[in-house]
Amino acid sequence: MPYIIGLHSAASAFLSAGFATQFTIAIVICLVIILVTSSLREDGLQAPKSLPGLPFLSIVPFFRQRYDFLNWGFNVTGESIFQFQLMSNTVIVLSGASARQAFFYAKGFDLTEGFKILSGAIPMVRGVTSGLQTKRISTIHKRLAAVQKNAPLSELIPVILEDSRRILESYGTSGIFDPFEKIYELIFQTTVRSLSSSEISDDAALVARLKTLYDRLDTGTTPATVLVPWLPTLAMIKKLWATKEIYDIVVRAIDAREQSGISRNDTLQMLVDSGDEKLVIVGFIMGLLIAGARATGTTASWVITFLGGHTDWRKKAQSEVETLLAAHSDSTSKALSSRLAEIPLEMWESHTPVLDSIIRETLRIAQPHTAMRRNLGPDVYINDKLIPSGSYVVYPFSDVHLDPEIYPDPWRFDPSRKEASNVDLGYVGWGVGKTTCLGTRLAKVELKLTTALFLLGFDHEIVDETGEVPASLPKPNWNDILLCRPPQGSCYVKYKRTNLAL
Ligand code: HEM
Repeated sequence: MPYIIGLHSAASAFLSAGFATQFTIAIVICLVIILVTSSLREDGLQAPKSLPGLPFLSIVPFFRQRYDFLNWGFNVTGESIFQFQLMSNTVIVLSGASARQAFFYAKGFDLTEGFKILSGAIPMVRGVTSGLQTKRISTIHKRLAAVQKNAPLSELIPVILEDSRRILESYGTSGIFDPFEKIYELIFQTTVRSLSSSEISDDAALVARLKTLYDRLDTGTTPATVLVPWLPTLAMIKKLWATKEIYDIVVRAIDAREQSGISRNDTLQMLVDSGDEKLVIVGFIMGLLIAGARATGTTASWVITFLGGHTDWRKKAQSEVETLLAAHSDSTSKALSSRLAEIPLEMWESHTPVLDSIIRETLRIAQPHTAMRRNLGPDVYINDKLIPSGSYVVYPFSDVHLDPEIYPDPWRFDPSRKEASNVDLGYVGWGVGKTTCLGTRLAKVELKLTTALFLLGFDHEIVDETGEVPASLPKPNWNDILLCRPPQGSCYVKYKRTNLAL
């Protein structure tokens, strides 16, 4: 009350003063407001704290040791939001529940723009995979949704299983393999099958070539190729060359299909029949192939690794698939892949709680994603920190998925964990808010089919380079932003065929 009375008397004094006094007071008030706001910015009360040291020292760790670098940033600044420079770009790193909420729902935060500068492994062909107009992107997303409708997704089940059978058959009756190579290779094949043409996916040599080219894009992604893509470094030239070769393979497949006039039952046909311009078809295949194969391949490699070390969960998953087989396949004399193909899509999607919880837990511990956006404007504030228009904003999934307050003993693989109910957006494995994964249905089906065939067709365990079962499973390496792969040579799958024909 005294406060209000004070304001009243100040207002009456101001109104009864002469014009010159009023004018002077108004000017003084304006100056004070400007000074206070600008001093707040300069004192860093609104701009996030910057990392100490020379700005260019952040570049390599951000690309090569991202998990350690971001954790170091939070520690050294002592803040939950900090910023650093990548060349002339300001990058703001967020953590915490309220920042996460703001990040995933902010209107002006754009994924495509953020990804362009901060990631870089996607092949960039102007107008095909980069610089796409919103309309083209939304057409690609619409076609991706069409591939995952019930009918086409159901039709993919037997072909994915047949591809998997062929590849797993080639492993022989027993041996040892590196899951981060062999399982990734398997998923690469099933993803090419799901997203491109039967001519490409039937040609094992061509699929292997595509994989080599995409791997080249990954290994050829250096800080320089992302930040100064116009600089003709050797890495950049190799990347360009690989991109051109991928582009040629895809364009050849489209041309051959259009000229042959023969209709086939695959995704390319759906794209051609939709009447989309060639750029959209090439963009669909080139962009989604790698976005899909990488994330799904990483997850599948870790699912097989975790199940190789957790026999209890291996048995539970195996018995879940056996129950489905008993209910939906009438002939035990058929090969496993043919019997699994008899299980309807709906069963794979809604009646596999064990596989679902295994996938969910695997994504939590072994999906080293850092979500990236660019603030296209206007300026926004997150937890009172300024995120200027034009700046880049990143949110590392480790902030939520490896938080011991949300997931006690976070590195422990435990698919029986309950959903985090003590915090908002406690799980972001498939994205949330404005951006959720548009390939979730396909990815889950691929993961379940390949895992089911492997678990029933083989017995397996994890061994180290000496061939012995290690005391503990290798820890996912979040600094490896693609595969989360543990040190090479530390993790192998030792397998033996069961007596069921694949
Ligand atoms: C296990 C496999 C996969 C995982 C864990 C995964 C996860 C994610 C996540 C977390 C996002 C959001 C990223 C962010 O917010 O920064 C995302 C977006 C996306 N995903 Fe996936 N994904 C998987 C497989 C796939 C596949 C197979 C496809 C396509 C065939 C696909 C297509 C997309 C697309 C197009 C987006 C961007 C959506 C947009 O721009 O709004 N994903 N994915």
